[in-house]
Amino acid sequence: MSSTHWSLADLALSRVDTGLVRDHDALFLLVCSASFIESGSDTYTRNLIEHFDDDPAVAGWLRDHWEPEELQHGAALKAYVRQVWPGFDWETAYAGFFEEYARLCTMDELEPTRGQEMVARCIVEMGTTTYYQALYEACDEPVLRDLFWRIRCDEVRHYKNFYSFFLKYREIEGLHRGQVIAALVRRALELRREDATIALRHAVNARLRTGAPDGGPAPIANADALAQEAIQLVSANLPMDLAVRMMLKPLLLKPGLQRAVARPLAALGRRVLLN
Ligand SMILES: [Fe+2]
Ligand SMILES: [Fe+2]
Repeated sequence: MSSTHWSLADLALSRVDTGLVRDHDALFLLVCSASFIESGSDTYTRNLIEHFDDDPAVAGWLRDHWEPEELQHGAALKAYVRQVWPGFDWETAYAGFFEEYARLCTMDELEPTRGQEMVARCIVEMGTTTYYQALYEACDEPVLRDLFWRIRCDEVRHYKNFYSFFLKYREIEGLHRGQVIAALVRRALELRREDATIALRHAVNARLRTGAPDGGPAPIANADALAQEAIQLVSANLPMDLAVRMMLKPLLLKPGLQRAVARPLAALGRRVLLN
């Protein structure tokens, strides 16, 4: 049985204060590109569900909780876009995004072992947790803030589930710390990965094609400046301490050692997330 912790009916979409967001191009692009990635998430959730087919505890959670929650993130963000920027052709922009994005989601990208795959998933959920927290901080509109926070809390729970699966497979596979670090670094370096770039590009292009999202005139000068403004908005608000804590957790370090590696990892995090 599938279940989510909230539903679209919980969002007060009819009470959105459109004046606080309608002219905010960077925020529109971030909401829009996040709606693309989350809406396409069943493409990669399927890969993982298949991969853990013989583990009912993992496959069951992935299928009944994780996948429906990720898809609900997409549906909720899309509903928000529709509410605030009704002139924006979401379907056409999404179709363009998905055509390119679907080619990236293959089984080949899974980590060598199941425990390492769970580390990679923790890093992905760390990325989404901190991303939505940054958007929450950057946003003034109450309904959108509420939505960002709901999604952020879902992503934290996803992290915790993947982390407990990681502990299980670490034991089964006898994973050593070098393998954990390898998976962690591989995925961390990919966090600014193609899907986010593709989503943002398709959102920007659709925005430029259709003019202002509310159907008004398009005051935007160029695509690069617009994309850059959106990236800056996230970067400036990223909770780096939280990111580092979530990255360090799978290493199961003793407190002294944890302190010693926290700084270089924070630097790594800043480099991959803030640049
Ligand atoms: Fe999500
Ligand atoms: Fe998630």
